[in-house]
Amino acid sequence: MKKILVIHGPNLQLLGKREPAVYGSVTLDEINIALKKVAKKRKVVLQIVQSNVEGRIVDLIGKAKNKFSGLLINPAAYTHTSVAIRDAISGTGISTVEVHLSNIHAREEFRHTSLITPVAKGTILGFGMNSYLLGLEALIDLI
Ligand code: DQA
Repeated sequence: MKKILVIHGPNLQLLGKREPAVYGSVTLDEINIALKKVAKKRKVVLQIVQSNVEGRIVDLIGKAKNKFSGLLINPAAYTHTSVAIRDAISGTGISTVEVHLSNIHAREEFRHTSLITPVAKGTILGFGMNSYLLGLEALIDLI
């Protein structure tokens, strides 16, 4: 079975309690359970990691190419700042789908730029938990 690495970036462990007006009331556990259901149905295996540490995310992506067929990532705040995560994705060439719960283009100006979008196969944003589920389906279709 093909394996997909799922990375949740910084502060996403707080989902459910964090700015519910922006991110809704869904928790990270609920998102992960829903992702695993899709994975089971589509016969892929997920490894799911949440990290608040940029270097750990870079390390995981760096080692992912031979172990995983694709990467589903919500880089969270690192979306807007991390050349290192972008370089890890382009350097390994791993097929990547970027997701965001919120519509980053409808928010503060500093969120309008994603350093990750140019190195992702595609980006899905603005649909809450469904961004992840649609992103996973699209990534599975791709790999
Ligand atoms: C986010 C959007 C980012 O701007 C923010 O820093 C996050 C979450 C989203 O899923 O909507 O932490 O990636």
